[in-house]
Amino acid sequence: MHDFRPTPGAAKPELYADLLLAADALTAGEPDGVANMANVAALMWDMLPQVNWTGFYRLIGGELVLGPFAGRPACIRIALGQGVCGAAAASGQTQLVADVHAFPGHIACDAASRSELVVPVMRDGAVIAVIDLDSPDLARFDAEDAAGIEALAALVASRI
Ligand code: SME
Repeated sequence: MHDFRPTPGAAKPELYADLLLAADALTAGEPDGVANMANVAALMWDMLPQVNWTGFYRLIGGELVLGPFAGRPACIRIALGQGVCGAAAASGQTQLVADVHAFPGHIACDAASRSELVVPVMRDGAVIAVIDLDSPDLARFDAEDAAGIEALAALVASRI
């Protein structure tokens, strides 16, 4: 077992620096992408406060397919352009949604989710997956969270 709990009360940049170090340590040298996604999903669940879903959707055959995650069972397939995840995958842009009820086409996998952050994972200039985080709190995620998860996406891009 690994214990990567962050310093209590740590500021977000410090928290994400810890998350990145832990993700690097867990995935370095491991060639199995599913194992790496599973550990990174569990790590986000363990280290980030106020989240109710952390995980991956992979872009396969032109649609997003559920990957390793922590949280409640979720929608399995999402078309490109649909929902927050589909918007991130179609545009290649991070989606920071303060209130999911105000996002047109939001897909409610867990009715408890109120805000969401979705970051594309890019390899060789193309989207290969997205990292999705949900929170039961309104406006849980900000630019520091987006920057932290973008750094994580860049780290794992060659390892999933
Ligand atoms: N809410 C997402 C769907 C995935 S779940 O949150 C796990 C969306 O609108 O794309």
